[in-house]
Amino acid sequence: MRNIILLGPPGAGKGTQARYLVDTKQMVQLSTGDMLRDAQAAGTEMGKKVAAIMAEGKLVTDQIVIGLIREKLQDGAEGGFIFDGFPRTLPQADALAKLLSDMDMKLDAVIEMQVDDEALVARVSGRSTCGQCGEVYHDETKPWPESGECINCGSTQVKRRPDDNAESLKTRLNEYYKKTSPLIGYYYAKGNLQRLDGLASIDEVRESISWIMGT
Ligand code: AP5
Repeated sequence: MRNIILLGPPGAGKGTQARYLVDTKQMVQLSTGDMLRDAQAAGTEMGKKVAAIMAEGKLVTDQIVIGLIREKLQDGAEGGFIFDGFPRTLPQADALAKLLSDMDMKLDAVIEMQVDDEALVARVSGRSTCGQCGEVYHDETKPWPESGECINCGSTQVKRRPDDNAESLKTRLNEYYKKTSPLIGYYYAKGNLQRLDGLASIDEVRESISWIMGT
């Protein structure tokens, strides 16, 4: 089993698990959030256009993210794709189905990571990432090493996201329940949906994903 969607609210642990799959199963992570942040960092026109929308916690237009995914799919992925944070609306899900079918590819599983709002607030407000390699940390559950160096790449550059604050998170959660959660029914009806307890530890979630993927 290979092409999968990690579906879940902000802070559910999608990025954390995707990184592990990239490292161990040679899969390619397609995170629209990372692509949009890269565009901002590079100062592209599109990056400038989406900066305020993202900081506020709203979704950027379907047209922009579908374009980003279309471009990356063309590069192919021997180990399969992990869609992280995409699709997030029904039109994005329809567009993905068409893109995959045009390329003779299929979706193997949609993994819904279930986490309650209280835990999401705690996770997002304590999150930091390595500015160089993107390794994800948390002030309590996975603190930045005392040595001051990232465990993965040795960088000393710690980053916090501008949208990881209480007000943006409230908007992000609203956007999730209003526009993204309908995808749960959409993929259930297609027979693709698998659910896991995202409140379990990072290792336990990792094992559940491996089990679902049959690896
Ligand atoms: P995006 O970057 O996709 O953010 P998100 O969906 O809000 O998800 P996060 O990255 O916040 O959380 P995550 O699930 O990856 O959790 P993580 O693993 O880091 O999107 C950002 C913005 O871009 C959107 O708001 C929107 O504006 C725009 N955008 C992106 N895609 C779009 C699209 N398709 N359409 C339109 N707009 C789009 O974990 C969080 C924390 O919890 C970490 O500190 C981690 O260490 C900790 N943690 C993880 N797992 C566990 C665990 N099992 N137990 C305890 N702690 C854990």
